[in-house]
Amino acid sequence: METMEAIKARRSIRQFQEKEVSDELIREILEAGRLAPSGVNCQPWRFVVVKSEEMRQKIGGATPMPFVPTAPVIIVCCIDMEAVEKGQVMNRARELLDAGVFDGTPMENFDPETYADMTKMDKEYAKSYLSLNGAIAIQNMNLRAADLGLGTCWVMMFSRRKIREMLELEDRYDVISLLPVGYPQHNPPPRPRLSLEEILLKEV
Ligand SMILES: Cc1cc2nc3c(=O)[nH]c(=O)nc-3n(C[C@H](O)[C@H](O)[C@H](O)COP(=O)(O)O)c2cc1C
Repeated sequence: METMEAIKARRSIRQFQEKEVSDELIREILEAGRLAPSGVNCQPWRFVVVKSEEMRQKIGGATPMPFVPTAPVIIVCCIDMEAVEKGQVMNRARELLDAGVFDGTPMENFDPETYADMTKMDKEYAKSYLSLNGAIAIQNMNLRAADLGLGTCWVMMFSRRKIREMLELEDRYDVISLLPVGYPQHNPPPRPRLSLEEILLKEV
């Protein structure tokens, strides 16, 4: 599928067929997430793939969205809060510099230590920064799922604490979204959107 075709074809899917989704397809979806861009290439996204009926039902108990456990697979999307710690940021920055991302760009006023400033974000700002980066990976996965004929729905209504506890995740991981994945049982029409005139504030 062309990118725009996938963007137009994607819907939030809330009814799933019982048909299993192969591990291979789940890997394809994760790969689309893995390739997402991120600030300083920090790649804070981490995923837990939940397939077992028992764990899906448990997750169902932590969200008011009843369709979530009806999907054969739930991808629990997390961010690693340690991705903005100094050591990690500097490693990512070094990889970028080694890969020559700034080659050909006049950078004489840039001090690589500037990257370290990122590590001084307060916790709330770091969380929103990392969530923003995580969202890019999630949308890549949503689009790839649509491309593969699969349905997903981005779900943010759930208890983060309960999900983290049931999956025994370390405190450094913050759960930002549940992504139920399955073959769609319905084919909904496009959902309403604001017009271009409403979203384009100005052209200057
Ligand atoms: C960040 C985010 C959080 C969302 N959370 C939920 C949710 O908790 N439950 C739900 O049913 N849909 C959720 N959705 C899906 C939206 O309702 C849906 O994207 C919107 O209505 C537009 O429909 P469409 O995705 O089919 O185009 C969420 C979507 C996004 C992007």
